[in-house]
Amino acid sequence: MPKTRQILVTSALPYANAALHLGHILEYTQTDIWVRFQKMRGHECYYVCGDDAHGTAIMLKADEQGITAEEHIANMRAIHEADFNDFLIGVDHYSSTHSEENRLFSELIYQRLVANDHIAQRTIVQSFDPEKNIFLADRYIRGTCPKCKTADQYGDNCEACGATYQATELIDAVSAISGATPIEKESLHYFFKLPEFTDFLQHWTRDGHLQGEVANKLAEWLDSGLQEWDISRDGPYFGFEIPGTPDKYFYVWLDAPIGYMAIFKSLCELRGIDFERFWAADSSAELHHFIGKDIVNFHALFWPAMLHSAGFRTPTQISVHGFVTVNGKKMSKSRGTFINARCYLEHLDPEYLRYYYASKLSRSVEDIDLNLGDFVQKVNSDLVGKVVNIASRCAKFIAQGNAGVLSENIENPQLWAQVRDAQERIAEHYENRDFGKAVREIMAQADAANEYIAAREPWKLNKDDSQRQQVQDICSLGINLFRLLVIYLKPILPQMVAASEEFLNDQLDWDSVHTPLTGHRIEPFKPLLKRVENERVEAMLEASAKQAAALQSASQSEPQSSAPEDSEPLAPQIDYDDFIKVDLRVAKIVSAEAVEGADKLLRLTLDLGDSTRQVFSGIKSAYKPQDLEGRLTLMVANLAPRKMRFGVSEGMVLAAGSKEGIYLLEPDSGAQPGQRVT
Ligand code: 2FM
Ligand code: ZN
Repeated sequence: MPKTRQILVTSALPYANAALHLGHILEYTQTDIWVRFQKMRGHECYYVCGDDAHGTAIMLKADEQGITAEEHIANMRAIHEADFNDFLIGVDHYSSTHSEENRLFSELIYQRLVANDHIAQRTIVQSFDPEKNIFLADRYIRGTCPKCKTADQYGDNCEACGATYQATELIDAVSAISGATPIEKESLHYFFKLPEFTDFLQHWTRDGHLQGEVANKLAEWLDSGLQEWDISRDGPYFGFEIPGTPDKYFYVWLDAPIGYMAIFKSLCELRGIDFERFWAADSSAELHHFIGKDIVNFHALFWPAMLHSAGFRTPTQISVHGFVTVNGKKMSKSRGTFINARCYLEHLDPEYLRYYYASKLSRSVEDIDLNLGDFVQKVNSDLVGKVVNIASRCAKFIAQGNAGVLSENIENPQLWAQVRDAQERIAEHYENRDFGKAVREIMAQADAANEYIAAREPWKLNKDDSQRQQVQDICSLGINLFRLLVIYLKPILPQMVAASEEFLNDQLDWDSVHTPLTGHRIEPFKPLLKRVENERVEAMLEASAKQAAALQSASQSEPQSSAPEDSEPLAPQIDYDDFIKVDLRVAKIVSAEAVEGADKLLRLTLDLGDSTRQVFSGIKSAYKPQDLEGRLTLMVANLAPRKMRFGVSEGMVLAAGSKEGIYLLEPDSGAQPGQRVT
C-alpha cells in the first residue's frame, strides 16, 4: 500500500437554473467512483460540490417565478442535493457559490490580482435593453440572421446556416428579455490579463495535469494568442459586487471555480481539516477537478493562471470527459432524448446507470453513448447473470448443508489466487480513471468463477450423500469468489455491495481481499439486484419525452449548461408554385377507431363537405378515438391514395409531431368541412 495521500476532488458545480440530466450524472458518477476507490484504499480524500448560483440566467429565472434569487437558488439546491443523494454520489459537502466564504475568497483573489497588476480596466460598448435597463449578453438578443435571413436567431450565431456575427449585425434585433430594440451603450469593464500567463500556461498544460488530447487542444489556443478575459458584469446582476467599483459584479465564471475553495473551506470548519494543507502554494496534497469538455478553457487556462497569480496551489489533475449521447444522438429536448435525472430515478435503479457508465468510461474525452438496449443487456448479463448469480447459486447449499457456515478450506487455491491477484490491475485501472478496463477485468474473473461452478456442478453432487462436503467446499469457494468480485465493484455499486456485506456478514475494504472467509457464518441470501425490465426503460423514455417537451417550451430563451442540442433543420426551400399544388381542406372527423394489429394508427372517417374519406393516421398514442369524433381538422385532400396493410388511405390529416408529442391541427371554430386552406 502506498503512503496515505491527501486528495481533494471536485465535480463541476451545476448551474442553479435547471434540474440535473443524465449528462451531469455521468460526471458525478465518474468522480464518485474515483473518490470511493481512493477512500477504500485508505487515503484521506474529500469530495466537494455545490450549486453554481450566480449570473443573469438565474436572476431572470427567479424574476420569472416572482421569487427572489436567494429563494430560487435555495429551491434548486434542494433538488440537486436530492439527485446527488439518490444517485449515491457520496459528496463530503454540498454547498453553493452564493456564500460568505466564497465572497471572501473571490475578493481576496481579485485583490491579489489587482496588487500584481493583472487586472486591466477599459470602456467597452455593449447592447443594452432600454426598457429593462440591463446590458444584454449575445444570447439575450434575437433577430434575423444577416446571412440567410432566418428569423429569431441568437445574437452571435445562426442555428440555421451556422454563420457567426456581431449582435449589431442582426436584422431587426430585439431583447429576448423585454422585446425592446437594443441600443448601444458604453460601460467600464475589468479584465484579467491572461496573455501575461502565456509562458506559464505553455508549461503547465504540458506538465502532466491534463489528458494529451486536451493539452493539444489548449496548445492550439495558446499558439493563436490568448485574449484578456472580461471578469466584470454591470448591475443588475446576481453575484458578488467587485470591491471599490460602482455597481459592477464578478462574472459568474470568476467566482464559480473559487467556489471549490469556499465549499472546501466550510467542510474544513465542519470537520476541523487544515485548509492551508490543501491550498497553500507549496501544498503536497492533490487537487483533482472532474469536468466536461465544454469548460476546459475556464479550468485549464483561466483558473490555474488566477491561482498562480494569487499565490495558491494549482490543480494536480483536470480530468475531462465527453458528453452523453442517448441511442447515438445528442441529448435533445426536441428529439425526446433528453433524460432528466429525477425521471430516470422514478423508473430505474441508480446502480444500473452507475455500472453502465463505469463500463464505458475511459481516459478519453470521446462522447459516451447510453445505448438503452445495450444498457439492459449489460446490466442483466453482467451483474445479475454473472455476479449475483454466483451468490444465489451457492448460498442455498451453504444454508442447507452447514447452517450458513462456510468451509474451513479453500477448495481451489489457484483459482482463488488468480481472482485475488487481479486486484492490482483493477486498482491501476481505477486510479487511471479507466473504469471500463476495470469492469472488463472484473467480469473476466466473474466468468472464471462461473465456469468453475458450472464445471463442478454442485447441484448434481448434492444428490449423493458422500459428496456433501465437496458441495460445501465448492460453494464456499464460490461465495469467496463472489466476495472478491464485490470488493472490486464497491466503488461502482455501493448499495448492492452494502447488501452483499450484510449477506456475507463482513465489512469490505480494498485490503479485505487478502483474507478469505473460512469457517465464517453468512446470512440467508436475499436478492441483491433486480433485472432491468425493458418496460421500465420504455416508460422512462416516454415520461422523459413528455417532461422534455414541457421543459423546452418553458426555457426557450435559456442558455443550456451542457452539450448544445440541435433543433430539427428546415426542409429545403420550395416555390409558391410547389406549395399551391397541395390542396388543404377543412375536414370533420365523423368517426375514429383503433386498427387491429397496428400500434400507432387510428382509422378516421372524414367529412369533406361533399364526400367522405378514409384516412389512416399515426396519432393513436396522443388521442382516444372517442375524443376525436366531431372535431374539425385539416387534411391534404389531393394526396394520391395509398394502399396500406389495413386498407386504402385517402389523404392525410395534419398534426405537429415529434417524439415529445403529437398535436392535431384544428381550424378556428366556424370553419366548414370542405373549405380550402390557403
Ligand atoms: O458548465 C457549468 O455547468 C458550470 N456551472 C460549471 C462551473 S464549474 C466551476 F467552475 F464552478
Ligand atoms: Zn443564417
